Amino acid sequence: MQKLIIEGGHLLSGTININGAKNSAVALLPASILTDTTATISNIPNITDIDVLTEIITILNGKCTIQNNEFIIDTTNMQNAVIPEKLSNKLRASYYFMGALLAKYHHVEIYFPGGCNFGNRQIDFHLKGFEALGATVNILDDGKYVIDAKELTGANIYLDFPSVGATINLILAATKATGKTIINNAAKEPEIINVVNFLNNMGAKILGAGTSTITIIGVDHLHEGFVEVIPDRIEAGTYIIAGALVGQDLKINNIIPEHLSSLLSKLQEMNIPFNITDNSITLSKATNIKPTNIKTLGYPGFPTDLAQPITVLLTKAQGISKLEETIYKKRMGHVEYLNKMGCHIEVTDNIETITGPTNLIGTQVSASDLRAGATLFLAALIATGETTILNVEHILRGYANIVSKLSNVGAKIHLEEI
Ligand code: EPU
Repeated sequence: MQKLIIEGGHLLSGTININGAKNSAVALLPASILTDTTATISNIPNITDIDVLTEIITILNGKCTIQNNEFIIDTTNMQNAVIPEKLSNKLRASYYFMGALLAKYHHVEIYFPGGCNFGNRQIDFHLKGFEALGATVNILDDGKYVIDAKELTGANIYLDFPSVGATINLILAATKATGKTIINNAAKEPEIINVVNFLNNMGAKILGAGTSTITIIGVDHLHEGFVEVIPDRIEAGTYIIAGALVGQDLKINNIIPEHLSSLLSKLQEMNIPFNITDNSITLSKATNIKPTNIKTLGYPGFPTDLAQPITVLLTKAQGISKLEETIYKKRMGHVEYLNKMGCHIEVTDNIETITGPTNLIGTQVSASDLRAGATLFLAALIATGETTILNVEHILRGYANIVSKLSNVGAKIHLEEI
């Protein structure tokens, strides 16, 4: 166990390079088991979720190597196996092995996925979709999910909500099904396009990724393939917010600005200046920040994963802001600790009302989930004195090399063993 200690009040200048996207990489690794030979994924982020997925693939007898941020899988000797609960419950993305193993072996044994705990995170859309393709789903007394299919046949699937996970999982399951599958009301996140580009590079036939109708024409085999993980728009957004809070010409590099358009529009509304190029944004500590209202939505709307981090910036605005969380209505684990640090945030149902500006004071806080942890490290960077963040393992699931990245631009931050 470790804790993160940050001394606030230091300006950050220099360059932060953004890693490959967690939410792409955690889908690309399970997708890679669909190749009959080898596949390569470059720009893999150095985060603990990747270690767990690699462990799962090793249990399936897949040969994985990771070198210089490049992941190579050889599936030649792969065999189906039960995915143990102690691994499936470490992260949400373990559920992608449902779709991938169903496509590869027509049989899956796995337990409920883990990941950040902010209320009820069902997987009913995934299961209903597998059933539409011809699978049967049994949940045993010990909680094991057994999913079987004699054969998988293309189907018309409608998602009640454009779920990222269900969209990707059903694409995986349908990749080798007989005939045509259409996913209606699919999610449009860039990570889905990244996964589809990889599958198509291996010989799949998938059209429409990035739109709300995705068509999959089943193929028999997937061959060798390659993909590069896209830059992490949520890691980028988090450090962009850091730049607006404590930057001094802080450059956030290796980004795709288009993926951040909702955040950048909000920064403009808040009177926060920035300089943008094709692959970077540079910004400095902002003054006279205007309050604003934000509502989280699926892409290209404002991402739920940046709602908690941007709260810190709203505490510096001159007036009252409202933030409505529509995707995960209970994703509010950061509020208690921000208030402990001196913020004025009230929560009614799924809406935060943030009254600014407030001055934050360092204290001991605890990360309840990944983005709550990001929120707390942003708060710590502007707080007076020292902040200690407990439950750091949540942060390390999603922010690669966080200590060196922030130290290199002037933050006073270190990890300590507890
Ligand atoms: N939902 C259902 N049934 C389902 C699937 C989803 O009711 O079968 C609901 C969820 O409860 C939620 C909404 O639909 O209210 C959206 O869930 P979605 O399936 O889109 O989320 P996810 O795929 O489980 C991914 C990311 C999350 C990110 C959301 C944004 C991964 C591994 N996780 O989760 O990332 O917040 O999409 O929609 O890609 C994070 O990075 O911090 C993170 C939590």
